[in-house]
Amino acid sequence: MSVTQNMAERFGKVAVLMGGWAAEREVSLKSGAAVLSGLLEKGVDAHKVDASRDVLDVLREQKFDRAFNILHGRGGEDGELQGGLEVLQIPYTGCGVMASAISMDKLMTKRIWTGAGLATPAFEILTAESDFNLVAEKLGLPLIIKPAQEGSSIGMSKVSDASQLEPAYQKAAEFDDVVFAEQWVTGDEYTVAILGDEVLPPIRVEVQTGFYDFEAKYASNNTQYHCPCGLDEMTEETLKTLCQNAFDVLGGKGWGRVDVMQDHVGTFWLIEVNTVPGMTDHSLVPMAAKQQGLSFADLTLKVLETSLSSDQQKMELSHAV
Ligand SMILES: Nc1ncnc2c1ncn2[C@@H]1O[C@H](COP(=O)(O)OP(=O)(O)O)[C@@H](O)[C@H]1O
Ligand SMILES: [Mg+2]
Repeated sequence: MSVTQNMAERFGKVAVLMGGWAAEREVSLKSGAAVLSGLLEKGVDAHKVDASRDVLDVLREQKFDRAFNILHGRGGEDGELQGGLEVLQIPYTGCGVMASAISMDKLMTKRIWTGAGLATPAFEILTAESDFNLVAEKLGLPLIIKPAQEGSSIGMSKVSDASQLEPAYQKAAEFDDVVFAEQWVTGDEYTVAILGDEVLPPIRVEVQTGFYDFEAKYASNNTQYHCPCGLDEMTEETLKTLCQNAFDVLGGKGWGRVDVMQDHVGTFWLIEVNTVPGMTDHSLVPMAAKQQGLSFADLTLKVLETSLSSDQQKMELSHAV
C-alpha cells in the first residue's frame, strides 16, 4: 500500500456535506462536487451527502466517520450543523459552533473585533424608528446598509444620499430582523484565506461596478482577481497577520476567508469572515492555494486534515483524564 493510500485511510468513511436548505444551495452543490472529486483523486473514501433536515440520521445510519462540511449559509455555516455533529461525535472540517455562529452574523463579528481593538468600519444599528438623518450625519456618506445575517450581498445597498437611507433599510429588513449601516471604505478590496495554521497569499478583488455585489460575484465577467495581490512584502505580511488575528479572536479554527478593505491612507478595515468559503474551481480559496503551490485536490485534503487535528486533540484529552 502506498503512503498516500495509507494517509487517506486514516480519515475513514467521509461524508461530503453539500446542498443544504439555505439560499446558497446551488453554489454549495457546485463546491461539493468539486471537493468530492478532489478527495477521490487523493484516495479518500469520500461520498456525496446532499444534506436536508435528516442529515444527522443519514450520517449515523450510514456509519460515516467524518464530515467535510461544504454547506454555505444558514444551517451549515452558522453553527447549527456543527452542534449536531458535536452531539454525534463526528469530527468535521472547519470552525466549531461558536466561531461559525458569530461569523455568520456580521454585526456580532464587528462587535468582537471592536472589543479586541481590531479596526472595522464604524456602524450604527438601524430600526424602523431610527433617525436616519442623524445616522447619515454620524457615519458620513456614502455608507452601506447590510442585513446582519445574509450572504452573497443579498439585501445590501450603497447609500450616497441621506434620503436613500430609509428605503435601503426597508430592503435589508426584508432579509433579517437585524440591520446595520456601515461606513463606506473607498479603496481596495482584499480577501485572505486561512488554512490550518497557514495564511494563504491575499487576493485583491477589483470590481468594475463599484461594489462586489451578487452580480459581480456570480454573473459578471468584469471582476478581476489579482494573486499575488500587488502589495509590497511588508504590507502583505501586515495584512496576513491582521487576518489571522481577526480569525483567531472569533475562535476560528480549520479554515476560512477574511474580507478586508484598504482605504486610501493605507489602513486596513475588516469586513467579514466566511467560515465555509466557496470551493468551485473558480473560487477564491482555491486561487490563493494555487499561488501557494497547492493543487485543488491538495487543498481538499488539507481542509479535511483540519477535522483530524480536532479529533486527535479530543482523543488526547480523553486519554489524559
Ligand atoms: N464598508 C464597506 N465599504 C465599501 N465596500 C464594502 C463595505 N462593506 C462591504 N463592501 C462591499 O460589498 C461586498 C459584500 O459585502 P460583505 O460584507 O463581504 O458581504 P457578503 O460577501 O456576505 O455579501 C464586499 O465584497 C465589498 O465589495
Ligand atoms: Mg464578503
